[in-house]
Amino acid sequence: MNVQVFIEFLLYVGNVLFLLFVVVPYYWLKSLYHILNPSQPKSVKGEIVLITGTGHGIGKELALMYAANGATVVGWDINESNNEETMRHLKSLGFSLVYAYKCDVSNRKDVLEVAKKVLRDVGEVTILINNAGIMPTHSFLDHTPEEIDRIIRINVFAHFWTLEAFLPAMKKNNHGHVVCLSSMAGLLGLNNLVPYCASKYAVRGLMEGLEEEFRRIPNNRVHFTTICPFMVDTGLCKRPDIRFQYFNKVLKQSDVAKEIFKAQVTNQRLVKLPPEIGIIFTLIPFWPREALYYFRDTFTTELLSDLY
Ligand SMILES: NC(=O)c1ccc[n+]([C@@H]2O[C@H](COP(=O)([O-])OP(=O)(O)OC[C@H]3O[C@@H](n4cnc5c(N)ncnc54)[C@H](O)[C@@H]3O)[C@@H](O)[C@H]2O)c1
Repeated sequence: MNVQVFIEFLLYVGNVLFLLFVVVPYYWLKSLYHILNPSQPKSVKGEIVLITGTGHGIGKELALMYAANGATVVGWDINESNNEETMRHLKSLGFSLVYAYKCDVSNRKDVLEVAKKVLRDVGEVTILINNAGIMPTHSFLDHTPEEIDRIIRINVFAHFWTLEAFLPAMKKNNHGHVVCLSSMAGLLGLNNLVPYCASKYAVRGLMEGLEEEFRRIPNNRVHFTTICPFMVDTGLCKRPDIRFQYFNKVLKQSDVAKEIFKAQVTNQRLVKLPPEIGIIFTLIPFWPREALYYFRDTFTTELLSDLY
């Protein structure tokens, strides 16, 4: 071993030991401190939040959450009548700063055109919530190529197009927040959900990469939050098959919207809902494969095919 290799060896081993025994415990303690003493949540008053998929489910609840907390809400949905209905409902509750646009988020041209209208009518979007998504549920070989294409275009490509439309202004102003809906299916591969899982893993990778790019910008104030919920009662999960239904409850959409809002205003990076199932999903990568199979077979939390 020559001297240069020996020095590199010492540096490498020294840094690994420093990382494991100083840096990691220090930041674990710091995280614990922040959990016990949470920082003041950001206000969303005066922010312009654009939420995709506001015609139904979690997106609709999020529109209500943000409007109730003083943000201007711009809702996009491919389903124009449902979206108009959401905004009518918000107006009837006294929230006037709400705007509905028809947009197919999987279509880049549509996204960029509608984004221009939003800039003209409302202003620069400061919070983007990529929520719209679809979830056909059946075995991999029962998915048609057209369906797989649609899942990837809506659940993945749409994020690229909305980011193309809104992220440059956030970067220029050094002010903004991007939230995206992944899923527990973006943390663990699941039966009957192969293309969906692929799409939800993809958005997690997209968000993690983006966060890393922005972290390198000095004094960066553009934040990224990825949400991974378990099943939610919106009807998207058509045939849940849950063995212990008391412990593994299907989540309420209003509760999920509250948690998403909380995660955004406290700049959380990755949120697994509910936290108790999130802890299990955090530990799973360290388990032996057979223990995971036992877990899956014993605590069944699956979706049955929507074709039968
Ligand atoms: N419901 C669940 O169990 C669950 C669990 C984990 C993650 N998620 C994720 O949360 C998000 C919201 O799910 P949800 O349960 O509220 O769904 P939902 O079906 O209730 O609502 C989705 C909305 O998105 C809209 N939409 C669909 N395709 C669109 C397109 N191309 N352009 C614009 N709008 C479009 C729909 O019209 C609908 O209004 C999705 O990304 C989903 O994958 C849901």
